[in-house]
Amino acid sequence: MNSGSLGIGLLGLGNVGGGVAQALINNSELLSEKAGINLELRKVLVRDIHKPRLVDLNSDLLTTNWKDLFDDPNVNLIVELIGGEIPAKKYIELALSKGKHVVTANKELIAKYGQELLALAQDTKVNLLFEGSVGGSIPIISALTRDLSANRIDVIRAIINGTSNFILTAMSENNMDGERALDLAQKLGYAESDPRNDVQGIDAAYKLAILASFAFQSKIAPHQVYTQGISTLEPTDFQYARELGYAIKLLAIAKCELEEIEVRVHPVLIPLNHILAKVSGAFNAIELEGNLLERTLFYGLGAGQGPSASAVLGDILEIGRRISTRSQPIKFTELEQFPKIIPIEELKTRYYFRLNISDQAGVLAQITKILGDLGISIASVIQKDSNPTAGTAEIVITTHIAKEKSVLRSLSLLEELEMVVKVNNIIRIEEIAE
Ligand code: HSE
Repeated sequence: MNSGSLGIGLLGLGNVGGGVAQALINNSELLSEKAGINLELRKVLVRDIHKPRLVDLNSDLLTTNWKDLFDDPNVNLIVELIGGEIPAKKYIELALSKGKHVVTANKELIAKYGQELLALAQDTKVNLLFEGSVGGSIPIISALTRDLSANRIDVIRAIINGTSNFILTAMSENNMDGERALDLAQKLGYAESDPRNDVQGIDAAYKLAILASFAFQSKIAPHQVYTQGISTLEPTDFQYARELGYAIKLLAIAKCELEEIEVRVHPVLIPLNHILAKVSGAFNAIELEGNLLERTLFYGLGAGQGPSASAVLGDILEIGRRISTRSQPIKFTELEQFPKIIPIEELKTRYYFRLNISDQAGVLAQITKILGDLGISIASVIQKDSNPTAGTAEIVITTHIAKEKSVLRSLSLLEELEMVVKVNNIIRIEEIAE
């Protein structure tokens, strides 16, 4: 270690990397003072040195050769902001095995390989911190692993993908179509490089796997998170939901009861007056229920240059403080390796159905018979718009708590009915106390 300084090697100079680099240069003195050690940005690994960039950096800092960072003994901390699995995983493993501390905002990597990377960090006695992987500026990882760790966390309900929340807000409040809203989210720097990860719920599933793993101290892999995106939602769903007293959000939900865990990401109807219904645009919110804390809500910008840089810089400062005070690296609690994850078919919740039907006598009786025979009890039925020319009408049904397995079966049977033109949508309803 260079005496009295922490040499930083940055991987990636995109939206977040640019923000981190700029802050390290512009606020160097202040940040070094907070860390108790001189923070020095020594090299930045980029793909193309000549690419025009908004960040104003001395070109001597840029390199396309990873060895300039990894073989430099004065680079003590690698900040990985390239995202994705390849080559980020290889770089992080190399850094840790060379005894360099690592800060990353890579949710995919932490969700898939967090435990093995943390074990490697522990072996080589360095820090691996990843606050920026979930919730942007919201300090949720440190809260779960430190400040709230005395709790038994039972429930997580979270809006953790800024892009999809931005799209849903634009569709619901401004009647904007989804594609235009996504375009705007990309321009504002919220979306992933492959925005399908945002709209298909994959990004939120990575983040939920991380949150649930640390909240329930159980290793939960992203493939164990039931994941459904927002593409089936149409403007009428928002309108009907509102009339019924609900908003529609892409929620990441995790529950742990008697050591059985439920982890799922999908659109849900939530009561309009619940605080999560009021989270709009690129804001994220994470609601926790626990035995001591009862209910706590974290709220903040979950995407974008500044909010993500805030979390990454916070981790850099924490490592700086640990080095300057000669403290041991942060040790994360070991996770239960084989938790029992409840399959989605076993879910019990309320449902919203939107059906396009032939507008004729007897059709409702046929539909209610199918639902009734499967033990699905109806809470409300509303006939919405009818189309006299086509002879069709739209109906919206909400149910009491039913089994997902029965709802899936009802979907097949309803689709076989001649008088059902189309099952337009089925959305789960999450009843939450206000
Ligand atoms: N694409 C992510 C989002 C960026 O929209 O939330 C932050 O992880």
